[in-house]
Amino acid sequence: MIVVSCSKGVHLGAKIAARLKAEHTALKVSRFPDGELYLRFLKNVRNKTVVLVQSFYEDVDEMIVETLFAAATAIELGAKKVILAAPYFPYFRQDERFRKGECVSLHVIGPLFDRYFDRIIVIDPHLHRENTLKHVFRTASVRLTANPLIAEYIKRHFRNPVLIGPDWESYKWARKTAEMIGAKSSILEKKRYSSYHVEVRLKDRIDLRGKEVIIVDDIISTGHTILETIKNIRKLRPGKIVCICVHGIFAGNSLRKIRNAGAVVVATNTIPSGVSKIDVSKLVADSLK
Ligand code: R5P
Repeated sequence: MIVVSCSKGVHLGAKIAARLKAEHTALKVSRFPDGELYLRFLKNVRNKTVVLVQSFYEDVDEMIVETLFAAATAIELGAKKVILAAPYFPYFRQDERFRKGECVSLHVIGPLFDRYFDRIIVIDPHLHRENTLKHVFRTASVRLTANPLIAEYIKRHFRNPVLIGPDWESYKWARKTAEMIGAKSSILEKKRYSSYHVEVRLKDRIDLRGKEVIIVDDIISTGHTILETIKNIRKLRPGKIVCICVHGIFAGNSLRKIRNAGAVVVATNTIPSGVSKIDVSKLVADSLK
């Protein structure tokens, strides 16, 4: 097996390879003068199982092209198998035609990856209306969850926390993590009007006075979901508010806004950032063993 760090996988590739005691290399990527992609494998991949590590954030579409080019090249160079380890896989949220004429991006992207990969490993995909990866990929796929790692982090740092999920979908992270550590949890109700306009309201009566409240969700992107949740929770006078997410996209200045709202923010390193305190390399390596 050879683990290959793609452009947005360098923060995890070497760690995953070390855990597997496997060979590691980074993909050589640059641009031709006209902006087209140049890509090269610097180590031999012939007859090897090639694991491409790529997380799809920031230049998402460029990373898609890079990953497909890398997989196609590995096949041409005689790789035995090509596996994609994608800590964060994109476009899961556009899984429906919400408005007439829209592209259902997930339906386009799934088959593109099927064509080149023998297996696709994803951490906490935002499966909502499509409820298993089998609805997305025809090739073999593995769905991992960072919940046990988040549970362990909470157990290590907080005594008697209450976990909050901002919307019904977040039960998969907030409630399930709470169950793992025997903590109380409550799921709020969210209405989304646009990417930047959401409303959140508390459904249950819940005593948060003086408590360590931990909001758990899969993704923080614009931060509006979390900011609205904080606004509602504040009314119940908690002692401390912490937000933990799997995928910290932190679009624009959302991280600063959440901190300014008085919350501590923690994320995993599926997408690296200054608050990536939970390492997922073992999760991926274990699944590759
Ligand atoms: C949505 O259903 C997700 O679980 C997150 O709540 C959402 O993606 C967060 O987005 P934003 O930070 O832009 O509100």
